[in-house]
Amino acid sequence: MNLTAKHEPAPGILDGKALSLQIRQRIKAQIAEHIAHDGQQPGLAVVLVGGNPASKVYVRNKHQACIDTGIYSQQIQLPETTTTQQLIDRVDQLNADHSIHGILVQLPLPKHVNSQQVLERIDASKDVDGFNAMNMGRLVLRDPGIRPCTPRGVMALLHHHGIDTKGKHAVVVGASNIVGRPMAMELLLDGATVTICHRFTHDLQEHVERAEVLVSAVGICNIVDANWIPRGCVVVDVAMNRDSNGVLCGDLDAEIVKQKASWYTPVPGGVGPMTVAMLLQNTVEAAGL
Ligand code: GUN
Repeated sequence: MNLTAKHEPAPGILDGKALSLQIRQRIKAQIAEHIAHDGQQPGLAVVLVGGNPASKVYVRNKHQACIDTGIYSQQIQLPETTTTQQLIDRVDQLNADHSIHGILVQLPLPKHVNSQQVLERIDASKDVDGFNAMNMGRLVLRDPGIRPCTPRGVMALLHHHGIDTKGKHAVVVGASNIVGRPMAMELLLDGATVTICHRFTHDLQEHVERAEVLVSAVGICNIVDANWIPRGCVVVDVAMNRDSNGVLCGDLDAEIVKQKASWYTPVPGGVGPMTVAMLLQNTVEAAGL
């Protein structure tokens, strides 16, 4: 036995699959109790425009999660040729529908559709994605309304494992409206010092090397070289990509991450299931549960 070899403790796994199951069970019990006391069943409408294969899978997963927990799920499939105005009209109908408490318009929308106009039309109290200006603005102003699902799921995963980001240097890679930006705001709200890296960042390595918490949400295999992460870093890989051989991968090489991180999210089974769990949570909260 080599007694001089430095022993590195095994990293902790941020197991989103396990935590999301716990959350889903709790929500299921909450809904059953609510309905037993003559409460109304929470309802979620998911609008899918066109036939993007990845979106179809996501929408199917969300539908199944609703069925499993007792949420009424309305799936609305519209043709690729749907106009912005037609989509807005459909959103208006759902805003007025008392059986629907949450509305989600699956992104990306076809290029000819003005996504922002459509998202803005969703009543803020039914905007379970948290993407419209009211909910995003409230998060920025430290008074969150409905919080975007993926960042909310990441924070739940960190807090569940006793990871406090207060005072820590958190680096977010990717500045999308869906994940990067609200993720940075969640971390800031938690007390972290936040750096946001994006396509114009000059020296990504320099920032990653100083991360105590790294959240990557780009969507390209190995976009962040896992050798750059400092030892003991908490690594959250939001991405679910396929490499050139069709194998699932995140933004970082998982084998290297496991050797250096103190905690890490597996891909799959890390952030993905938490996003769905937070969508259910946002929906029951929107229904007043
Ligand atoms: N497309 C990819 N992720 C999401 C999401 O969280 N919500 C919506 N509406 N579309 C997405």
